[in-house]
Amino acid sequence: MNKITIHLLAFFLAFFINHVVALELNEDWHTQSNYQQIKTTHVKLNLTVDFGSKQLKGSIEHAITRVNKNTNQLMLDTRDLEIHKIEYYNGKYWSRTEYKLAEKDEIRGSQLIIELPKLIKTNSHHERVRIFYNSQPNSTGLQWLKPAQTAGKQHPFVYSQSQAIHARSWMPIQDTPSMRVTYNATIKTPSNLRAVMSAVNNPIWNQEGFYNFEMPQPIPAYLIAIAAGNIHYKKMSRQTGVYAEPSLLNVAAKEFDDTQSMIEATEALYGPYLWGKYDLLILPPSFPYGGMENPRLSFITPTIIAGDKSLVNLIAHELAHSWSGNLVTNASWRDLWLNEGFTSYVENRIMEAVYGKNRASMEQTLSVQALQAKMPQLPVLDTRLHVEIKNRDPDDAFSIVPYTKGMLFLMSLEQKFGRKIFDKFLRGYFADFAFKSIDTHHFIEYINDNLVKKYPNKITLEQIKEWINEPLLPVNAPKPSSNAFTLVQNLMDNWLTDKVQLNELPTQKWSTHEWLYFINNLPKDVSLNQLKLLDSTFQLTQSTNNEIAHAWLLLNIKKNNPAINQRLREYMMTIGRRKLIVPLYKSLLNSHTNNITLAKFTYKQARAGYHSLAQRTIDKLFDEKKISTE
Ligand code: BES
Ligand code: ZN
Repeated sequence: MNKITIHLLAFFLAFFINHVVALELNEDWHTQSNYQQIKTTHVKLNLTVDFGSKQLKGSIEHAITRVNKNTNQLMLDTRDLEIHKIEYYNGKYWSRTEYKLAEKDEIRGSQLIIELPKLIKTNSHHERVRIFYNSQPNSTGLQWLKPAQTAGKQHPFVYSQSQAIHARSWMPIQDTPSMRVTYNATIKTPSNLRAVMSAVNNPIWNQEGFYNFEMPQPIPAYLIAIAAGNIHYKKMSRQTGVYAEPSLLNVAAKEFDDTQSMIEATEALYGPYLWGKYDLLILPPSFPYGGMENPRLSFITPTIIAGDKSLVNLIAHELAHSWSGNLVTNASWRDLWLNEGFTSYVENRIMEAVYGKNRASMEQTLSVQALQAKMPQLPVLDTRLHVEIKNRDPDDAFSIVPYTKGMLFLMSLEQKFGRKIFDKFLRGYFADFAFKSIDTHHFIEYINDNLVKKYPNKITLEQIKEWINEPLLPVNAPKPSSNAFTLVQNLMDNWLTDKVQLNELPTQKWSTHEWLYFINNLPKDVSLNQLKLLDSTFQLTQSTNNEIAHAWLLLNIKKNNPAINQRLREYMMTIGRRKLIVPLYKSLLNSHTNNITLAKFTYKQARAGYHSLAQRTIDKLFDEKKISTE
């Protein structure tokens, strides 16, 4: 071979390794940004919150570094954004630059391609790109609420929900969890409303409508979050507080006043909380999730304020993400189980540390029952932890599997290695990957080196791969149980076999969890009369606990009990949390004509108040059944 051939071969080999192999291993299909060529290290937002036009308007400035020095285009993710002009800064001055918005991909949105001048040495550390743009009223990542949809009914409200791929609908950005940026922001609101962000917030309200934010730790785009409304603050402890509308401030602060203890319990297990403060923002009830772990400021549904702290595992969950997810982040949405499975496990450890083993076991048992009930309804390949979501919208692939199967996997590791070793392993994992992103392959390598090989004969790599790559559950998966539930089951059996009367059951002492177990485990052939008796004895239809009400309403739909219809309508009209309402719609649509009519009639009125994500999910239910929503 002559020299030229060798050079050519070397060139092609390098090209292959750089592009083909790298893309195969690290590709995040859900971004159209060229994040492997150029990376954004810091963004600066300058936005006005315009409630009149339902738009965020202003600019975003990216500080960029060219990883590949020959790349002369910056490609960013956008969806439904209006771009006005783009400028480039070479370290000395700003100038206009050319750009193109590519045709819209239904799932990923429109790639924004920005032309950059050739890189010269002197500008390489100072390059910036500034994009003037606005979001559209239909931005999938923002919900604009009318005053009537808020607790106070006087002021509008807006909030973002960027996970998984919605950040791009309110800012042009490298929207992949494998990249991180620090950010700062200047936000202008109407002077009577306050803006908050997933950043350092100033609890003192300046009342002039200008807010400055700074997020000094690097975070992925999906954790950049904003909200604005009549938002007040109440401190709970040294590190914690709640932001909420005035009427919710005191109840929320009371409900969530164990948050500081939760932080301390988690630190004792897994190392320091690295984000400074931890506040909660209580959103209006149309928020489509229970919670969202936006760093320093988790976004929380008001539907978990039960008055007795019975649903605060959700706070433990969002807090746990400060380690699993926000510190150590899934590299792509295929790897979501690394975020949610670890978080569900850590959540339960926090609950055990703060509220005791009994409660933690009840919560595990209920989650696993829910997983067992759900799995047969899912496409079997979607019951894998490392799921395939190429060509799919991550929102459509979302399920309980990464959460509860992920938790069971970690529980099985805990059982095999013992807490001492496993806790140490997790602590090391959070430290080793702090502020990094990790994919499933990388995790397998890491656990092989740090657990499997280090403590031989406990578990094989094949068993680990079975958990991660195979559908359903391994035969020897942990089976959590709860003594409290065994008692409830015995009492239920005694009632069903006429050994005791309903009013003799010791229900005054039952927790929310025991009620949930009871309702969810009533036999399939429970009669309408038995349901009526249960309701007249315990007023379950009127339960103000939204999880109990959900379980009860669902059971009664399945059993065709129209006596709950009014409450059901009220529930579906006021709550927009997907997990609570979607099963109700599904169940109504799967039953008789009266119930289908009820679903249609209710959805027609409720739809406009739901978040676009909930709308999309419920629209699909109607579509699948070929039932028009008109
Ligand atoms: N990060 C999730 C919510 C999420 C996941 C949004 C994937 C978009 C895509 C959040 O931490 C979460 O899991 N919330 C749960 C809490 C529950 C498991 C305690 C919820 O909303 O129900
Ligand atoms: Zn989560």
